[in-house]
Amino acid sequence: MTAIQVDGLRKSYGDFEAVREISFSVARGEIFALLGRNGAGKTTTVEILAGFQRPDGGTVRVLGLDPVKDRAKVRKSTGIMLQEAGFFPDLTVARTVDSWRELVPAARPRAEALELVGLTGKAGTKVRQLSGGEKRRLDLALATLGRPDLLFLDEPTTGMDPEARRATWDVVTDLAAHGTTVLLTTHYLEEAQRLASRMAIMDKGTIVASGGMAETLAAETGRVAFELPAGVEVGDLPVEVTAVEGATVICRVADPDVAAQTLLGWAGERGLRLRGLEVRTATLEDLFLDLASREKA
Ligand SMILES: Nc1ncnc2c1ncn2[C@@H]1O[C@H](COP(=O)(O)OP(=O)(O)OP(=O)(O)O)[C@@H](O)[C@H]1O
Ligand SMILES: [Mg+2]
Repeated sequence: MTAIQVDGLRKSYGDFEAVREISFSVARGEIFALLGRNGAGKTTTVEILAGFQRPDGGTVRVLGLDPVKDRAKVRKSTGIMLQEAGFFPDLTVARTVDSWRELVPAARPRAEALELVGLTGKAGTKVRQLSGGEKRRLDLALATLGRPDLLFLDEPTTGMDPEARRATWDVVTDLAAHGTTVLLTTHYLEEAQRLASRMAIMDKGTIVASGGMAETLAAETGRVAFELPAGVEVGDLPVEVTAVEGATVICRVADPDVAAQTLLGWAGERGLRLRGLEVRTATLEDLFLDLASREKA
C-alpha cells in the first residue's frame, strides 16, 4: 500500500522553478529521506504533500487522498514538523502541549507526549526559554500528538546535541516500527543512513539519485586512505590512486577491503607502515560529494 505517490510534481515561485517534475513514492510504514543541498526544493515538496501549498503541475496523493482537496482528512492522519516552528513564546511547555491537544482528536496524554521527547522536566518552562534543540523536541512531541499514520519531519534534529539526536532517532524508529510512515528531510547524512530504507536526492528542483539506501550505497565505490610512506612514490603503489591530498593518498574502489589487503600485503613485504589507514564502504556522504563533483566537471 502506498502512503505517498508523487508524479511529475512542479512548483514555481514567480519565474523561479523550485520543483521541476519530480516523481517518487513512499510505501506505508517506510522511512523515506529527501536529501539535497540548501534550496534544492525539499521543504517546498514537503509543504505541498502536507497541503500547505498548491502544486502547479503533476499529481500528489497522500494516504490515497489529494492534500489540497481533502485537506481536512489528510490533516487528521498526518503529523508535521515544519522547518520553522511557530510557537507562542510566552506559553509554558505544558500549556503549549495542552492547547495543541484540544485541536487533535484522540491525542496522547500530555505526560506521555513530553516523556516521548525527554521534556518532562521542562513542563513549567516558557517556550522562549527552551534551547534550540529543546524547541525541536517540543515540535516533535506536537507532531506526534495524534499518533499519525504519516509523519513529515523537515530537518527534525537541526540544533540537537548528539545525545538528543540519537534519542530522536529512537523515537522515529519506534514510530515506524509501529506502522507510521515517515518522510524526513535532513542535512545529517548519517541520520538518513541510519533511519531511512529509501531516499531521493534533490538538486535544483529535480531528483538526481534515488532508490533503496543499501542498494544505492552498495553500487557506489568505497574508500581507502592512508599516508604515503616516506620514500615511496604514488606510482609505486599496487592500487589505483584517485587523489592525493597533502600526504594522504585516497583510493576510491569498488571493494575497499580487497584494496586494503593488497596494500597491507605490499607494505608488509617491504617493511613499510601505512599510517592513518582508513577503510570504509561507501557512505551517503561519498555519494553526495560524487554528485557535486560530477556537476562541476
Ligand atoms: N515562498 C517562496 N517564494 C519564492 N521563492 C521561494 C519560496 N519558498 C522557497 N523559495 C525558493 O525555492 C527554492 C527551494 O526552496 P526550499 O525551501 O524548498 O529548499 P530546501 O531544499 O528545503 O532547502 P534547505 O535545505 O535550505 O531547507 C529556494 O531557492 C528558495 O529560495
Ligand atoms: Mg528546507
